[in-house]
Amino acid sequence: MRILAIETSCDETSLSILEAKGGFSAPKFKVLKHLITSQIKLHEPFGGVVPNIAKREHIKNLPILYREMFGEGTKEKAEWKKISLMAITVGPGLEPALWAGIEFAKKLSKDWKKPLIGANHMEGHLWSFLLDPKKKYDAKKVFPSVALLVSGGHTILLLMKDIKTWKKLGETRDDAVGEAFDKVARILKLPYPSGPQIEKLSREGNENAIEFPRPMLHDKNYDFSYSGLKTSVLYYCRDNPSANPADVAASFQNAATEVLIKKAMRAAKEFKAKSIIMAGGVAASMYLREKLGSEVKKEKMIFLVPGFTFNTDNAAMIGAAGYFNYLRKKKRPLIARGDLGV
Ligand code: KG4
Ligand code: ZN
Repeated sequence: MRILAIETSCDETSLSILEAKGGFSAPKFKVLKHLITSQIKLHEPFGGVVPNIAKREHIKNLPILYREMFGEGTKEKAEWKKISLMAITVGPGLEPALWAGIEFAKKLSKDWKKPLIGANHMEGHLWSFLLDPKKKYDAKKVFPSVALLVSGGHTILLLMKDIKTWKKLGETRDDAVGEAFDKVARILKLPYPSGPQIEKLSREGNENAIEFPRPMLHDKNYDFSYSGLKTSVLYYCRDNPSANPADVAASFQNAATEVLIKKAMRAAKEFKAKSIIMAGGVAASMYLREKLGSEVKKEKMIFLVPGFTFNTDNAAMIGAAGYFNYLRKKKRPLIARGDLGV
């Protein structure tokens, strides 16, 4: 089935048309058209995403992307004829930004008489590894799987029995890991968007220079906590004003990712996982990809992580999450809530 998906949960406006088939047992996605526009430059002076500016920009950008994708007149009509489902992010995300997308999607759904289904943003991230055209995937070799979802708002560890059955093993009790990267970058006065800047600066530093805490590393659960680590960095910089920022960045990155890697690997062993899935904005970190990837390889498991195009917020992943929601709630293809809690 052909799906039009829309994502506006944060500062990226994105529209995708994708073909989905195979159901839960052998899902296959083919992204046919993919448009994305980022508002990063506009939020830069504020050092973070301003919800109302994000909303205003989504309202401005959605019709522009729509025209680019659908054209006008007969071309537009022909395109709609092929579409059988629409998917829209309903959360989690910035409320005003989400509503800009939801209102736009609702109007299109009404005008063109197409069913509209809601999708959870984090579920979108979870499925983004399925969008890579070059990678083939065999469910028998993947499940059970442990999934690590790491973004600016979430740090979640899931145990997946198969593609439609999972349970949450743990999550952060305070800040998300991406949020900690952003805050530490601000302490170090690095430019916005700051998460990737930590990784860049870390390459020049010694990651064992400072012994930052590894919160909850030895706790017998799969929860995380990042607020204490961020505060340690703050106090360290206050008490050591001449510290080398690259050493601070590298030591922080080492501490923050070690907890993710150790807990994900521990869960994988405990539940005899055949693979580890990693997704979300923080999964863009090459440092984390390489470190976790090599641990996964040592255990002869499969490491599933999306290519860079679909790792950042995008509509194609929302199309995948929408497809699975559609399969689950076939008789009620209305705004539906995802399983990770909106
Ligand atoms: O998934 P995402 O694009 O948006 C949310 O859904 O939150 O994730 C954004 C987060 C930000 O906190 C950003 O700092 C972080 O991903 N991030 C990184 C890297 N690139 C992006 N964190 C660490 N290292 C990176 N290279
Ligand atoms: Zn995201």
